[in-house]
Amino acid sequence: MNEENDPLLLDHEVDGIRELDNNLPRWWVWLFNLTIIFAVVYMGYYHVIGAGDLQVPAYQKEWQKGEALKAAALARFEAALGTLEPSKDPAVLAQGQHTFVTLCAPCHRADGGGLVGPNLCDDYWIHGSNFVDNVRTILNGVPEKGMLTWKGVLKPNEIHAVASYIYTLRGTHPSNPKPPENQQQPEKPSAFE
Ligand code: HEC
Repeated sequence: MNEENDPLLLDHEVDGIRELDNNLPRWWVWLFNLTIIFAVVYMGYYHVIGAGDLQVPAYQKEWQKGEALKAAALARFEAALGTLEPSKDPAVLAQGQHTFVTLCAPCHRADGGGLVGPNLCDDYWIHGSNFVDNVRTILNGVPEKGMLTWKGVLKPNEIHAVASYIYTLRGTHPSNPKPPENQQQPEKPSAFE
């Protein structure tokens, strides 16, 4: 066939460049049709019937699930507080030390000697001398006295770890400690020792 008579050849030309009006490949057309079908189904499902969650409600549902999990974990932790023992696992203590140095040291000093918060190494305790008393104070804080409430900030196992770590500071003698506060309460011989 003469090039000039080719039915596909369009009748314009720019700088010697001609255009052919080919049919699109079948597979391409079907792919295109599929995207249209997908869009209609998607539109119907999410925007017309409203059967599926859009981004924001989907995020909120996941978030609420997460909050419920956290609340349940905290409730389990608080329910079992009475039997909680300080951990002696070096990995847990190392994690507790890390938490203490980063979050607690600004008020209690890295060696536990006390600054704004009381000395945690001596036998003088404001809120009880038992391990579990410490855990409670850390969980609930003493907001009116400047001790933060850590539940909701730290996970239960992180609170257990940091309480276990400060338990190891007991009886150490940091230099220049904060003077004792409140009554001396030597820790009752603990069932856990
Ligand atoms: C913003 C300062 C601040 C930070 C941060 C802080 N504390 Fe305290 N903490 C205090 C104060 C102040 C008290 C004393 C509260 C009182 O007088 O009733 C206290 C008390 C305590 C007690 C009870 C001491 C006692 O004598 O009964 C423990 C245990 C304790 N903190 C542990 C921690 C741990 C663990 C962290 C880190 C997760 C921490 N604190 C972070 C200020 C702080």
